[in-house]
Order: sequence, then C-alpha cells, then structure tokens
Amino acid sequence: MKLFDVYPLNDIEIVKASGSTVWAANGTEYLDLYGGHAVISIGHTHPHYVKRLTDQLSKVGFYSNSVKISIQQQLAEKLGQVSGKPDYQLFLVNSGAEANENALKLASFYNNRKKVIAFTGAFHGRTSLAVSCTDNPKILAPVNETDNVTFLPFNDEVALENAFSSFGDEISSVIVEGIQGVGGIRVATESFLQKIRSLCDKYNAVFIADSVQCGYGRTGKFYSHDFAGVDADIYSMAKGMGNGFPIGGISIAPKFQPWYGMLGTTFGGNHLACAAALAVLEVIEQDNLMQNAAEVGSYLIEELKKFPQISEVRGRGLMIGIDLPQEFANAKKDLLFKHHIFTGEAKPNVIRLLPALNLSKADADKFLEAFAKVLKD
Ligand SMILES: Cc1ncc(COP(=O)(O)O)c(C=O)c1O
Repeated sequence: MKLFDVYPLNDIEIVKASGSTVWAANGTEYLDLYGGHAVISIGHTHPHYVKRLTDQLSKVGFYSNSVKISIQQQLAEKLGQVSGKPDYQLFLVNSGAEANENALKLASFYNNRKKVIAFTGAFHGRTSLAVSCTDNPKILAPVNETDNVTFLPFNDEVALENAFSSFGDEISSVIVEGIQGVGGIRVATESFLQKIRSLCDKYNAVFIADSVQCGYGRTGKFYSHDFAGVDADIYSMAKGMGNGFPIGGISIAPKFQPWYGMLGTTFGGNHLACAAALAVLEVIEQDNLMQNAAEVGSYLIEELKKFPQISEVRGRGLMIGIDLPQEFANAKKDLLFKHHIFTGEAKPNVIRLLPALNLSKADADKFLEAFAKVLKD
C-alpha cells in the first residue's frame, strides 16, 4: 500500500529532537523555528512532558467518555486558571478543525440560527463547516459549499456593521483568528475585535475566537484576542495545547448550557491527551513561557525591522510574519538547506516564525545572523 500523496515533502527525516533543536537521520542538526506548524509549544521532548506522558501511559492510556476521567477536570481547572477564564467550561476534542466545528455547532444550537460570518484570509480547518468558513476555494469540495457562510473583508468594521444591519437577526456566529496564521500573520485590530464583541452582544450572535494557531501563550497573552480587552464567547484551541500529542478543545462561556448528547467524541479528552495538555500548561506556568514569548518575540520583531530588504514585519510575540519582495522567493529554502533552520511560509512570499515559546535569545540571534546572510546572497 502506498501513501495518499497530498503533501509536498522536504527530503529530511527527523529522528531526534530536544528543545528547539532537531536532528535528521544523516546527523545534520537543525534549529526549529516552525515547531511543525506551530505545534511545539514547550520545546521538543521536554523532560516534564515526557515523564508525565510515560507515567500516565504506564497507568491507563485510554478509556472513553462513559466513565469519570478526573484528569479532564484537573486540565479544565488548570486551563481556566492559566488562561484567566476560570468560569468558562471545557469540551475536549482532537484537532483544531474539530474544535472549530464544535464551536460553530454549539453557537447554532445556542441561538437556533444558521448564518456564519468569516473573513477574507481566514483558515479554520478542513472538516465540513470549518472548511466552509475557510477562505480558500481550492480546498472546498462541492459538498462543503453553503450559502450559510458570508465572507467579509478582514479588519473592515464598516462591512461588519453593514452585514449586521442587513441580516443581523440571522447571524449565529462570527469566527475570527486573533492573528491570521495561514493567511500570512495578519493581526486583527483591537477595535475590530471590540466591534465584533459589541455587535454580537447587540444581535445575540456568538463570538468565536479561533485560537488554534495564535493562542496558548504564543503572543505573550494566553489568547491573542485578549489584547483587545474583550472576552469571546467560545475559544477554540489545538496545536500548542499538546506539544505534539493530538488534542484540541473549546473553552465555553458560562452562558452556554450543556445537555446530554449535545456534543460528543470517542477520543477527545482521553487520559494520555490530558496528561500531555496538563504538562504543557504546567511548563508554561512554571517557566514563565508567555513572558519569554513576549520578550524574545519583541526582540526578534525589532531586529527584523532593521533589515532594509524586508517589506514588512508583522505579528506579536513568537508568531511572526516576514513579508519579502519576490526576489527573495528562495529565502525559506536557503534557510533550511544552507543554514539548517526550519521556518514556515505563507503566500505570496511570507516567512512564518512559529517556534517553541521557550526559544532562547541565543537561538533568535543564530536565526538573525543566518537571515542576514540569506538576504545578502
Ligand atoms: C487558525 C487555525 N484554525 C484551525 C486550524 C485547523 O487545525 P487542525 O489542522 O488541527 O485541524 C488551523 C491549522 O493550521 C489553524 O491555523
């Protein structure tokens, strides 16, 4: 049997990893500033994480949501505390798309409406409704086409006001990333997020904060939407939540009332996934990783802004987009193959930095030095 060939692959096999360093099968050492799509939040093979997972595995790895799983409650308490939203409720799933799917569905159950507002440049995942809210016709199968989703220009408060005044009573939810990731690291303005909050309040629509990529402390605050000083009704999360162990979740405001059978999952919230997520939160807290993300991120952003070749530097904390002119179209490849540094990209020519939140200043400097060479070559 061969693999279904949907991924363009780099010819590198990673066999060992520690912190922000990974090693390939041929012994080459790489600096990892991508964390496998923003997933590695506390660094590869963090000792506390490895211990918590292996301890849990030797006790019980899985049982379904038909029995009490007290580690779920421990995770909910820790997440409520670290995220600063202790009165919210947690529903656990396995991925970012699934988190958004459940958020959109919960919103629709809540106000019994069908319409969703999403934005240009958005990426919310590949499951049915999540992909319908994603601004990429290439990955939208005919079966996912729907009139229920309206795309508005990102950060356009007038377009948002107009949509609500023309069909606000039909709008179930507004889904928005605090910083668009796949869309090229585009930051939602604070006033745009505040406008979403006030219009959702006025029309009884649900504010869904997609925090799958921009959340979990990456920007220096737990949710990047927090910079706007308003609370969303539902936060979706995944990626950094398990530091590589598949887990996602939605943090749900107190006003939502659950009923048995409303949402459900086989694997979501299993013992191992919860152990991984708890380990991540414990390390984020104990090692002050949000502060480190804010400090090392600001340092990187300020230093990058000094490069005259760069068109624009965007982002917050350790979620950074470097917009390059077309002549540097090979920058990402050069960083990887000449300087052994993993970074991400976005169209048309944006380098994305999404490293672990405990990236050291020394590693940030290593990148800056290599990047200066790439832009000179
Ligand atoms: C903002 C955002 N939402 C949702 C998703 C989907 O997450 P997953 O790939 O875990 O389904 C992604 C993935 O890149 C994302 O960046």
